[in-house]
Amino acid sequence: MNRHLHLVVFAIVSLSLALPTAHAQQQNPPAVQSMGTESGFATFQTKCMGCHGNPTMAGRVPDPATLRQLSPEKIYEALTTGPMKVQGQALADEQKRMLAVFMSGRTFGSAEQGDAKNMPNHCEANPPISDPSASPSWNGWSADVANTRFQTAKGAGLTADQVPSLKLKWAFGYPTGVSAFGQPAVASGRVFVGSDIGYVYSLDAKTGCVYWSYQAKGNVRGGPSVGPVKGHGAIKYAVFFGDAHANVYAVDAQTGEQLWTRKVDDHFVARITASPKLYDGYLYVPVSSSEEFAAANLDYPCCTSRGSVVKLDASTGEQMWKTYVVPETPKPTRKNSRGVQQYAPAGASVWNSPTVDEKRHAIYFGTGDSETEPAAKTSDAVMAVDMKTGKMLWYYQAQANDAFLGGCFGPQATDNCPKENGPDLDIGNSPVLHSLPGGKSIVVAGTKDGKLFALDPDKKGAIVWNIHVVDNPPNTPVFRMSGIVWGGAFDEKAAYYGLSGGGITAVQLTTGEKLWHKPLADPGKRVGNAAAATAMEGVVFIAGTDGKLHALATADGSEIWSYDTSRSFDTVNKVDAKGGSIASIGPTIANGMLFIGSGYGVISGNTGNVLLAFGVE
Ligand code: HEC
Repeated sequence: MNRHLHLVVFAIVSLSLALPTAHAQQQNPPAVQSMGTESGFATFQTKCMGCHGNPTMAGRVPDPATLRQLSPEKIYEALTTGPMKVQGQALADEQKRMLAVFMSGRTFGSAEQGDAKNMPNHCEANPPISDPSASPSWNGWSADVANTRFQTAKGAGLTADQVPSLKLKWAFGYPTGVSAFGQPAVASGRVFVGSDIGYVYSLDAKTGCVYWSYQAKGNVRGGPSVGPVKGHGAIKYAVFFGDAHANVYAVDAQTGEQLWTRKVDDHFVARITASPKLYDGYLYVPVSSSEEFAAANLDYPCCTSRGSVVKLDASTGEQMWKTYVVPETPKPTRKNSRGVQQYAPAGASVWNSPTVDEKRHAIYFGTGDSETEPAAKTSDAVMAVDMKTGKMLWYYQAQANDAFLGGCFGPQATDNCPKENGPDLDIGNSPVLHSLPGGKSIVVAGTKDGKLFALDPDKKGAIVWNIHVVDNPPNTPVFRMSGIVWGGAFDEKAAYYGLSGGGITAVQLTTGEKLWHKPLADPGKRVGNAAAATAMEGVVFIAGTDGKLHALATADGSEIWSYDTSRSFDTVNKVDAKGGSIASIGPTIANGMLFIGSGYGVISGNTGNVLLAFGVE
């Protein structure tokens, strides 16, 4: 379950989910943000779906997917002075606003203020963009397609000796933003980054001046990828990304002009939160949904969304294949106590960027929990599919019988809920493909309760080693949710995984032996470090829910540099900006610089809207 919510809904959300507090504090599970997601969704189910989701009214009312393309202002206007005024009268102003934000996936005022045209820091010139493969880059989720989150010495342009002298070079504010959760990408000397206000920006890596902005139809969290396109005249390089409404885009890397866009899933709460992976002219797009948040609501026909990975031609957006994690189409099962039709099977979102195995022509990804019982065998699993056909090659399930819906705890549970609500152990991290000395490959992934395992891709995912990285007592909520969420960084010898329960653990890759664990918070203080780690030669970077970014020596975990991002910043674009929690993304390193967004509106998280750029010169 993926509870990445905004401040505005904290109260409502924590009530509606009624989590054991220990785990509410710590958990930063894969995924979903969007102000008003949960309560907006619930209101939509009860007050709007009767018409907008009613098949017998199709053609006479806009369907939910269509409504979700509208701006928050437009939806709010419909409910206050427009055609939905009557429906809107039954709602408090706050509810209307949350609905508008939930449905649009964007904040109020963002369209105007977020546009680069209205920013004071335009780059003076926009020289022709150079070949992105010819200079240091960080594309999408990782600098490589194996998802190691390791930057080579050449790519980093930065040595371990220089890290202690990293200084803030510039800060950029996302106007009206409350979560700076976009993973920055770097190519051709430019930063490409998405935002919670739906804008994607192209900034100069050295100065932070802005080349262009592009407004997507929903928020953009995944790291953009930059690569060549064919068939668009003089346009040579495109930037690719996905949004909170399951739209994928290609825009001209030079100007931000749209080349193509494609919706990869029709479910009205389908979304893309992770980075589509660009490889050899194709995009592998991870699809998730926010259905599990509010599906316990008795007015909701639970459940019909399924996670998938979709392969698109990067030049045209044409779909090559789509592979669902749960292969069967949801079918009607029973009517709930309110007479609302229920469906199954559903669930198993893909919250992570797929991993490419060039040698085996395979794509690997982690899958989330099921929404319906019995839980699919491929939920909470690592799945391998054939790159060419999308056909499943093998899967390894880390957690069986995990059918989970938010709001299904204790007395809040409705009869939409699974009889046995599962432990919510999505695999939110990208599996990492790693070569051991001697040439054997392993695929490594971890779970929210701290299991970490290496699979053999030559033996259909057979276990090579299987360990537990959390030391808390088993079978307690603290134990359950103290583990791995967004994933580790790898170098030649070891993997470094930040933990929800705090700290970072280094693991030897041949044997799975723990090398060291470094706690990062002051004793007695709760800080989650489940954000993604980033590594370079000799150094691993890890940030926390306290907003602190640490650089540690990979040899023993000793700290060599740290920076507190949780404060206000003067920004190059003159937007009021502050940092907050860092709870999902990790730093991007390229060409002598390091970039990270700070601010994350999770439960107990601190919101923020700043992108920070560090360098040594
Ligand atoms: C009784 C049926 C019904 C209910 C309930 C209903 N709608 Fe509508 N909605 C409609 C119809 C019909 C239209 C098309 C109206 C038109 O084109 O004039 C519409 C149009 C809209 C539009 C587009 C307005 C525009 O200007 O294009 C929005 C936005 C919208 N509805 C939102 C909502 C929301 C949010 C709710 C729940 C609070 C809701 N609706 C509940 C029937 C309904």
